[in-house]
Amino acid sequence: MAELKERNPRAWRRRLRFELAAVASIEHYTAVLGQWIMDNRRLDEAGVDPTMLDLLRWHGAEEVEHRSVVFDVYKAFGGGYAMRVLAWVVSLFFLYWALIGGSLYLLRQDPTITRRVTFPRVYRSYRRSVRRGTVPGVFRLLLGEAPVYLRPGHHPSKVCSTPRALEYLKTSPAARSAGYDPY
Ligand SMILES: [Fe+2]
Repeated sequence: MAELKERNPRAWRRRLRFELAAVASIEHYTAVLGQWIMDNRRLDEAGVDPTMLDLLRWHGAEEVEHRSVVFDVYKAFGGGYAMRVLAWVVSLFFLYWALIGGSLYLLRQDPTITRRVTFPRVYRSYRRSVRRGTVPGVFRLLLGEAPVYLRPGHHPSKVCSTPRALEYLKTSPAARSAGYDPY
């Protein structure tokens, strides 16, 4: 990137804007997922390990809390709507790979899973979990958010709840056991 900046500053700015737009789009999804995990009660009912659930919710709250940063930097760099749409399309492929490929990879590394991890087996289990409400539906998430994120006047502050995220960050069991006292 530094070499490109020297050689062709215009191309460097274009590439920087594109990368910012791609990350802004990914941040939209991490924020939506963050809100989802904070609000989801099915996971508690399903008996998910409370420490792991708190860890995920804390991270979800943190994603909601900083959801506007990259979007605002993109705008400050003069980023426009067309590049935002293009970067969204590219980021969908990345997210698809990260969510599906990443899950398969992690399942294959888990020594507590004794059955062979195959795509059809994982897919069936994933569908069951979506029906139970303990996992978000990936396709609905990726494409269902398109009308929200691609609205020309969209801003991250219009989705998810900052007060809810800040409240969770203050009262998370892990934050409290680490000695954080908000009151
Ligand atoms: Fe983030």
